[in-house]
Parts: sequence; structure tokens; C-alpha cells
Amino acid sequence: MDTRLQTPRGTTDYLPEESYNRRIAEDSFRRTFELWGYQEIRTPTFEFFQVLATGTGAELEDSMFKFQDKSGRLLALRAEMTASIARVVGTQLLNEPKPIRLWYIANMFRYDEPQAGRQREFWQAGVELVGSDKIQADIEVVALMTQALRNICLKDVRVDVGHVGIFKEIMKEARLNADIVNAIRVSIDKKDSEGLEKTLNTEQIDEQTKQILRALLESRGGVEVLDKISSLVDNQKITDIINNLKKVLLELQGFGVSEEFVTVDLGIIRGLDYYTGVVFEAYVPDLGIAIGGGGRYDGLIGDFASFEIPATGFAIGIDRCIMALEKQKFQYPDKVKASVLILPVSKEMNIEVNKIANKLREDGITVEAEISGWSVSKGLSYANKMKIPYVIIVGEEEYRSKAVVVKAMSAEKQDQVKIKELTNFLKEKT
Ligand code: HAM
Repeated sequence: MDTRLQTPRGTTDYLPEESYNRRIAEDSFRRTFELWGYQEIRTPTFEFFQVLATGTGAELEDSMFKFQDKSGRLLALRAEMTASIARVVGTQLLNEPKPIRLWYIANMFRYDEPQAGRQREFWQAGVELVGSDKIQADIEVVALMTQALRNICLKDVRVDVGHVGIFKEIMKEARLNADIVNAIRVSIDKKDSEGLEKTLNTEQIDEQTKQILRALLESRGGVEVLDKISSLVDNQKITDIINNLKKVLLELQGFGVSEEFVTVDLGIIRGLDYYTGVVFEAYVPDLGIAIGGGGRYDGLIGDFASFEIPATGFAIGIDRCIMALEKQKFQYPDKVKASVLILPVSKEMNIEVNKIANKLREDGITVEAEISGWSVSKGLSYANKMKIPYVIIVGEEEYRSKAVVVKAMSAEKQDQVKIKELTNFLKEKT
């Protein structure tokens, strides 16, 4: 294998057309986040491993690209942004008025097994809403994630909403050891009822807890799912959580996210440890994997500061959005190509060509200048292949009378246009 001719597994080159399509989605995310009052934040691509590993848990830690600097300190490429933003808030933004609304679009790195929708370098667009422990903050971020996905023209965006507090509370009451809790967690997450039964049968777990855990595994649906759990438990914390989730379902409707697009799933257990409250994931039916996910993390910022600051947020996987748009046969607007190619008739006219090109660019017209010493006919053939609609030919004779020739490639037609009228002439046409 000649590594000079390849990129590492799980990384991709994005050629101009694909980069353009991605740019459209990214611009849309940016606009949506800013319309909701969020401000951009950028953090380093690599940081001390200890920062990036704070609160994220073993799964993400294992997937980090780690390396040492020359002094032997352990660094890593960021695998997600939330820990970095928690560090920034905990060290630099503590005195800012709350809530703080932040957004980012950045590349992330995870040593995952590459497959469809799973790369080792991938892009996320996300937000963090810092400083509110109110359910309205959770509702805002779920609504914003849905709106951001709808605004890139994804159809049928669905959200699964759960709450890690229910499982945690049940496990706290059951007092099981960490390995058993993890086995139960994995079975519920994978909706693996056989696996769950196996674990439940080998352990000293009371009947009522078993019943609740079975119900959690099956808890996917509408508000009735919440009522079912409610009828099984006698725990004030869980009752409060359920009432809050009911509020989420109800108030999302005010954001145009009606019940048909929201599924309660109390089995959602996200792959990151820092979550403490409402958690959610976004899907479109055309793609079997989550295109976005997030949730509340009220303890993470406190790991970087002397007190706790509640927060919630999400990240959308841009690569998965692009895949979903392709599956939904989304038609991207035509790529903006240069609208003008400018050619000198002879190399003596090069300076004039560049003067005219620069003036047109200042006026907002996209101009490609000929640099290869081509003949006019070669230039015209290039414009034809590149679908450039207008060619300006700068000849000595016309230039002396302060004019150039403008050729419309679609109609076998050319006009002599005064240089000072060139911008208006082209703007009327393009
Ligand atoms: P996450 O669920 O790990 O959450 O990632 C969010 C999204 O990033 C996923 O839904 C998926 O679309 C995309 N993604 C994750 N891994 C890959 C991969 N290997 N290849 C392609 N896309 C991928 C977080 O990262 C949290 N920081 C979200 C958050 C923000 N929670 C609170 N605030």
C-alpha cells in the first residue's frame, strides 16, 4: 500500500461539488443558530486528554486519537465539543450573564470502525445552552435541533425524547453493582429483552423493579408510555421527571413539532456519561442511524469550576445529514460558477485584462482570468466546457476605444461594450 496516494481510513477528501453542498448545509445551520440568538465559539482541535475525557465516559475515551507532545503531556484530538465548551465556560465565562447560548460547526475525530455514516473524521453542527435548569431550556434545544434539520430541507425529521434520570433513580433504589447496572443499561438501550431477562434472573432484584425495567425496555411511544411508568413507580423524583417530559411533548407543539414527530423513548441511554436529564436523538426514516443527539448535563461544567452550572445542548452529524439529503433526493441549487472568463487577444493586453477583472470583482462579479497564454479559440472552448456563460475578449483595437467584446456562450452572439458600462451590462445578463 502506497500511503502517499491515500488518506487514512475513515477520512475523506471533499471535492468542490461536495464541498459546495456541505457549505449550503453549514450556512443554513449557521443562520438558524444565529436567528435563535446563539453565538459562535471555536476551541482548539486538540487539547489535553484530561479535558476531553472529563465526563465523557470509557466508550468515548477509548475512541480518542491520543498522542504526546514533546514534553510527554498526553493530548487528544477532540471527539466532541461539549467537554471543551464546558472547560471554556468553567474557566472564562463564569461571570457572563446567563443563559449563554453558543454554537459551533467543527470537525471531530473518533477511532470508530468506519462504515456508512461512521467516519474517523466527521463534522458536527451543535449548540450549548448554558445556565438554565428549566425544562424550557430543554424544550428550546429540542425545538432548535428539529428546526435546524428542517431548514436544511430534510423531510420527516423525528425526535426521540427520554430522560436518563428515570433509569438512574431506579438503579439507585435497587442498589446493584456497577457491572450489573451496565448489563441492564446495554440491554435496555439495544431493546434486547432476552438479554435483560438473563440479567434479571441471575440477580437478587425485587419483582417491582423487574417490572419497571421491562416496562422501560418497551417504553417507546406517545404520552401513554409515560402514564404506564407512572402507574408502576412510587417515587417523587420519577413523577416529576414524567411531568416534565409531558411538558416537553406539549410545548414542542408551540414550535411546530407536533406529536406525530416526537416519540418518547425512556430506553435512550446515550453513549456519553455526562448526561443528567432530558436526552434526545434525531432521525429521518430514510437513514437507520441518529443524525443528531444531545441532552442535559448539569454536572459537567462544575468539573471545571468551583460551582455547578446547568446546561443542555445537542450536536448534529453533518455527514449523516448529507447522506439523508441524498436519500431524500434533495436537489441542490446549481453551483455558482464563474460568470465571466476574461481573455486577452495577445499577451500585451495582460495588464488591461487584470485591471478589468479586478474592477468587475470589486463590483461583485465572479471572474476567471486566462493565465495559460491560450488563443481566443482555446479560451472559448474552455468556457464552453466549464459552462461559463460570458467571455470578455480584450483586444488592442477595442481597448483603444475603451471597449471590449463580450461573447454570450449560449447564443452565438457578441457585443462591443464600453468598459465603464461593463458591470451594468453583465449584471443585467447574469
Ligand atoms: P453524539 O451523539 O456522540 O453527541 O454525536 C452527535 C452526532 O454526531 C451523532 O448523532 C451523529 O450524527 C454524529 N456522529 C457521531 N459519531 C460519528 C461518526 N463516527 N461519524 C459520523 N458522524 C458521527 C455528542 O457528540 C454530544 N457532544 C452532543 C451534545 C451536545 N450533548 C450535549 N451537548
